[in-house]
Amino acid sequence: MGKAVDGSLMAFGYRDLQSATKNFSEKLGGGGFGSVFKGVLPDTTVIAVKKLESISQGEKQFRSEVSTIGTIQHVNLVRLRGFCSEGNKKLLVYDYMPNGSLDSLLFSEKNTNVLDWKTRYSIALGTARGLNYLHEKCRDCIIHCDIKPENILLDAQFCPKVADFGLAKLVGRDFSRVLTTMRGTRGYLAPEWISGVAITAKADVYSYGMMIFEVVSGRRNSEQSEDGKLKFFPSYVANQINQEDGDILSLLDHRLEGDADLEELIRVCKVACWCIQDEETQRPSMGHVVQILEGVVSVNPPPTPRCLQVFDTQENIVFFTESSSSQSSQAQSHTSTASTQTKNTTSNKSPES
Ligand SMILES: Nc1ncnc2c1ncn2[C@@H]1O[C@H](COP(=O)(O)OP(=O)(O)OP(=O)(O)O)[C@@H](O)[C@H]1O
Ligand SMILES: [Mg+2]
Repeated sequence: MGKAVDGSLMAFGYRDLQSATKNFSEKLGGGGFGSVFKGVLPDTTVIAVKKLESISQGEKQFRSEVSTIGTIQHVNLVRLRGFCSEGNKKLLVYDYMPNGSLDSLLFSEKNTNVLDWKTRYSIALGTARGLNYLHEKCRDCIIHCDIKPENILLDAQFCPKVADFGLAKLVGRDFSRVLTTMRGTRGYLAPEWISGVAITAKADVYSYGMMIFEVVSGRRNSEQSEDGKLKFFPSYVANQINQEDGDILSLLDHRLEGDADLEELIRVCKVACWCIQDEETQRPSMGHVVQILEGVVSVNPPPTPRCLQVFDTQENIVFFTESSSSQSSQAQSHTSTASTQTKNTTSNKSPES
């Protein structure tokens, strides 16, 4: 079934994939680009087939883009096995990841196996390595543009694999598309997406940082608490981490009951705070993040990102709401006041010491 093109990548016929997925009967999930189905190849390899929707690219460009993605291989990236391109039917075939995506492991109430600290730390590090590879080790820098727990998949050993890299270019992901495909809160988008300037690899660093807070806490960053108030977790971390008597263990997912390496916990929280700095230049590169998490270089105390400084942890936090709401314009005006007051305190610092 299928024939190998460009060395390892297989070109599948639509009917091959139809039969492998039992006519697309077992849906794993769906997102902004289409839906994903589980399948089995005749040689018993288990696959995940992504049916792409609304690909505007021509045949030739699609094939060339897909074969580029196919050459990118790293232990922390989901492997593309092949594709199908028949008229407007465009599908991508990936290795199936038996432990699913990070969002279900972190947030699902059904999931009774709580990820231990060691696994969380190795997920943070592995994801950073995968992203570093995309940013620095490929011939052209690949900006992922959609880093969030749904796009981090776990293999049988819980080794993290970044999914959906290269798709931003493949489907031509413009700003409006990003906004419509980001589900729930827009909490992973760097501020430069909103302001409309050119996106660099540092946008991924920001999203990575936001995601790492969630790996630590086991909750979405913006979460409605029982009293109906919206709490924004990163501002709480930034506060605790910069206080001498900060309660670091309170940052940890309470289901772990404090069972974590304190030094690693502090390191991860500091890195996450550096990653979400408003200014791209103040965010570390993914290469630096890897070095810090490997313990090769140590990390300085992070400045509180300007946009977080307006928020006291006790307050009713309004953050990343729909731009039309009056609450968000209120938040913005607070932010601009804070930025003029704090400009000098946050400049000339860098993550590494
Ligand atoms: N290779 C795979 N192995 C196992 N499960 C997968 C695989 N690829 C995707 N999935 C599952 O399918 C879900 C949907 O994936 P999909 O990429 O369509 O949406 P998403 O990741 O939520 O959003 P986006 O479109 O922005 O990437 C994932 O969250 C994951 O749970
Ligand atoms: Mg995805």
